[in-house]
Amino acid sequence: MKNLVPPHIQAIKPYEPGKPISELERELGIPSSVKLASNENPLGPSSKAVRAMRACLKEVNRYPDGGGFELTRALSRKFDMPAESILLGNGSNELIEIIVRTFLRPGEEVVSARGAFIVYLLVTQAAGGKNVVVPMKEDTHDLPAMATAVTERTRLVFIANPNNPTGTWVTRTAVDRFLRSIPAHVTVVMDEAYHEYVSRRSVPDTLGYIREGRPVISLRTFSKAYGLAGLRIGYLFGPPRHVAEMNKVRQPFNTNSLAQAAAVAALDDERHLRRVVRVNRREKRLLEEELGKLGLPTLPSEANFLLVQVGRDGGEVYQELLRKGVITRPMGGYGYPHHLRVTVGTPDENRIFLETIREVLQP
Ligand SMILES: Cc1ncc(COP(=O)(O)O)c(C=O)c1O
Repeated sequence: MKNLVPPHIQAIKPYEPGKPISELERELGIPSSVKLASNENPLGPSSKAVRAMRACLKEVNRYPDGGGFELTRALSRKFDMPAESILLGNGSNELIEIIVRTFLRPGEEVVSARGAFIVYLLVTQAAGGKNVVVPMKEDTHDLPAMATAVTERTRLVFIANPNNPTGTWVTRTAVDRFLRSIPAHVTVVMDEAYHEYVSRRSVPDTLGYIREGRPVISLRTFSKAYGLAGLRIGYLFGPPRHVAEMNKVRQPFNTNSLAQAAAVAALDDERHLRRVVRVNRREKRLLEEELGKLGLPTLPSEANFLLVQVGRDGGEVYQELLRKGVITRPMGGYGYPHHLRVTVGTPDENRIFLETIREVLQP
């Protein structure tokens, strides 16, 4: 079998998702654990989204609208972007794959940062591309170094803003300068999965670049602040000519009807979104403070998670927390062997996490 598979596929290290609560129960018999591992929204989806899904349950015998007309129109109105600049995906992960399959020939290069979202590397490798990985500076994308890494063979640059797992961000000034130095054969993908949580004004408005006609793609998702991770629905904004090509590459029915309906309703529920963002901000600050009191530094984060330095092997601390029913995420694979990534949960979940990590680290 192995001989049938090309070496660049054999070399892929599978993505390790956060452990589902049900798996912990199955494997260790631990009921009602706390999951702070996948940057999900602990408050759940908007009730309007749930209602919208219920209303279309009886029609799941029909294929979905492959072009996602209603959702595209709702996004177009909300963000004042033409429908031709929007593409829907089965989560933004699928859109990352569609981007790479559209723009990259085997052997061509994709630039990303060490310690950025790992899916860029996996998808590029699967497409027979070459990953050019640039070290971060102070746990942040080093855009001047990334610009220097661009060659004749570069087709794509991925920048996660804010980045997962660090939570750090790049500023408008840095992105402006970066875009000025990027040649015309390169498309820059700004992955903005955590966009709704951002409060700093220094973070750039990527849609402005797209309106100016620059070769920039903005990736967004309903998985995080909108609380629809289980439905797999994301979207991107990009130059219409780019979007038209990507549209040919996607599967005809890549987003399902329940997800489309829920996303339209979720977009409309600004009150729920505001509450989600408010609770995240408050709880993130409390978590930072309490972790600081335990002597555990965190990086400044504009997202819904914190990268916590635990002062010991992060994999071991992860396992010990797991045995006590708290699921976090070890970050050795991202170059942070002494860290855990912890999603900001509800007040109760955060309290349980803090009590448990105290037990583990200060027995
Ligand atoms: C930076 C970043 N991009 C993309 C994704 C993928 O999100 P989804 O496929 O659920 O939209 C994630 C999920 O964790 C992420 O952190």
